[in-house]
Amino acid sequence: MSKVPSLPAQVKIVEVGPRDGLQNEKEIIPVEVKVELINRLTAAGFPNIEAASFVSPKWVPQMATSSAVMQQIQRKSGVIYSALVPNMQGLEAALAAQADEVVIFGAASEAFSQKNINCSIAESIERFREVAKLAKAAHLRLRGSISCSFGCPYQGEIKPDAVADVVARMQDLGCDEIDIADTIGVGTARQVQTVFDKVSRQFPIDQLAGHFHDTYGQALANIYAALEVGVSIYHSSVAGLGGCPYAKGATGNVATEDVLYLMQGLGIHTGIDLQMVVDAGQFISQHLGRKAVSRAGNAIAARHVAQS
Ligand code: HMG
Ligand code: MG
Repeated sequence: MSKVPSLPAQVKIVEVGPRDGLQNEKEIIPVEVKVELINRLTAAGFPNIEAASFVSPKWVPQMATSSAVMQQIQRKSGVIYSALVPNMQGLEAALAAQADEVVIFGAASEAFSQKNINCSIAESIERFREVAKLAKAAHLRLRGSISCSFGCPYQGEIKPDAVADVVARMQDLGCDEIDIADTIGVGTARQVQTVFDKVSRQFPIDQLAGHFHDTYGQALANIYAALEVGVSIYHSSVAGLGGCPYAKGATGNVATEDVLYLMQGLGIHTGIDLQMVVDAGQFISQHLGRKAVSRAGNAIAARHVAQS
């Protein structure tokens, strides 16, 4: 029998629902609902919550209330509340809102970079240079996110070399953590291992994160594949909320409840209370007027109703 690879004993789950999950919602969600969602997620035990995005309100109207949200949430000491920033204007807003971590977001695809942030990959890196310098000077954590690491809605195939090239540039900017993102959920398990193998030759594997959207239903398999090669940071979205406004047809991130259920079954420690996440998922789904897109979340919620 071949040797079974050992998996990490614990993982960090970054909850991205309040940002990636909600940014694509057409109806503007009241600040108090966003605040309650984040407070529930904080109480559930996440070490890191992506809470805000300081981008142009013309590009992503739903995120225009980010300052108010950051001001009103109840913060728990030690929890990292992150915010996306595409440029200096975004960084200034993130500093004023006392974000703990800022996320510069680029892409491994030229076409996606243009659609999402209106500039080439090279221009984005130049734009991020000053952002990164000032973020570091202000003692903020700096994270880099690389969209379309497994495929692009406009360009199609993306070579692992293209991902590795952007990882190197983000490493050079001083990123503490780098997200390898499957924006449109097209990646499959072996491809995930190939890409992480490649990029972890230049950036430490324990500072790389898997950010998987679940459009093709591959996200859990991809997480398992990434666990096998030692990745220990994963992004997920409560109730499977989300989709990128600049990637038509892309669905939400993998649902947090499903990821937690998987981790529980594997005996991998997360420090997060699954039932509280299920309740948070039901809360936001009720507000949005639709069923949560989480298989485990809905099953657990149904079991709870049946037992009460
Ligand atoms: P631009 O139009 O080239 O920017 O957009 P500009 O510098 O020419 O400014 C134009 C206007 O935007 C000006 O206002 C600026 O003040 C304003 P005006 O004078 O016309 O009234 N502006 C801003 N306002 C607020 N905050 C700012 C800001 N910057 C400029 N920070 C820009 C360039 C990058 C701003 C724009 O393209 C943008 O905001 N893009 C964001 C797109 C976005 O948020 N996409 C979703 C997040 S990424 C994602 O979801 C992927 C991820 O999940 C990983 C994955 O799954 O792939 C992370
Ligand atoms: Mg995303």
